[in-house]
Amino acid sequence: MPVISFLFFIKGSLMKEQLDALLHEAGSELAGISSEEALQEFKVKYLGKKGALTVIMKGIGALKPEERPVIGQVVNAVRDQLEEWIERALVTIRAARKAERLQSERIDVTLPGRRKPIGTRHPISLVIEEITDIFAGLGFQVAEGPEIELDYYNFEALNFPKDHPARDMQDTFFIDDNLLLRTHTSPVQVRSMLKHAPPVRIISPGTVYRCDSDATHSPMFHQIEGFMVDKGITFGDLKGILTIFVNQCFGKDTGVRLRPSFFPFTEPSAEVDIACVICKGKGCRVCKNSGWLEILGAGMVDPEVFRHVHYDPESVSGFAFGMGIERIAMLKYGISDMRLLFENDLRFLSQF
Ligand code: DAH
Repeated sequence: MPVISFLFFIKGSLMKEQLDALLHEAGSELAGISSEEALQEFKVKYLGKKGALTVIMKGIGALKPEERPVIGQVVNAVRDQLEEWIERALVTIRAARKAERLQSERIDVTLPGRRKPIGTRHPISLVIEEITDIFAGLGFQVAEGPEIELDYYNFEALNFPKDHPARDMQDTFFIDDNLLLRTHTSPVQVRSMLKHAPPVRIISPGTVYRCDSDATHSPMFHQIEGFMVDKGITFGDLKGILTIFVNQCFGKDTGVRLRPSFFPFTEPSAEVDIACVICKGKGCRVCKNSGWLEILGAGMVDPEVFRHVHYDPESVSGFAFGMGIERIAMLKYGISDMRLLFENDLRFLSQF
């Protein structure tokens, strides 16, 4: 029996030697480790599930029972030692990394910060603001209306009867039979007059929509509507106000010309031209050699419109006008293609 047990059991002293050797080997290996990754590998190699220490530990069962606790303690001591070394090495490695970074990544605290670029006003907004300011100076108030509009305000009350060919002047986006994207800012005339008794002097900038798209037409564009109603307003007042506007917007001596035209909601109606701002009236490509540029439509408010808003056409009269903002912006800033205004290209927009 004693012979057999001698053969069966490993000697505790042998195992202790193995553990000493392992600790020794680990100690010298650790001295060469300088990165967190290598340290992690080291940890796996010695303490991992399939690590060297675990392999030795598995041999404990083959020791004589009385030797097991003794060697068990040695194993624990070796593990504690390894863990402590790893912990310390980690601190050292991290400190070295930090010191290295502080050396190489010096921060110049005197460098100015990076500013977020500040945007600029869009040329359309600039023109709306300028025109609104001019008319505010003439006593006009600003009013706004909805972009999704009833057929009644956009057409009917402005004397475009249903199925009347005048409706063909404006290619309309209909939502249903009675609802549409407003094709002009003129419905604000009706809405405002229904809300306020005369006298009224109102200016109304806003977005409008037509089914139209090329270098000079955009399906979404902007207009400013203006109108003035009071006792005794004449066509002379219309021309006077528009001349003041043109001279403030385009320059003191800019010529103004009115040509007869037709709009269902004004009678008489006119197209208003200004002397070409490019060639000063001599004739060029922009004005097609005519010397004149059309900038707006205008006229005296039709009595039919007054009837829809319950104003008495016998006691009050008024004028109205409407202009396209894009056209004014293009003329003022020398922009050749309307699409530039809606492409959101910062190289273009930051010039304003
Ligand atoms: N609403 C017209 C259009 O978009 C422009 C216009 C013409 C407005 C004459 C007016 C006006 O107020 O009197 O074509």
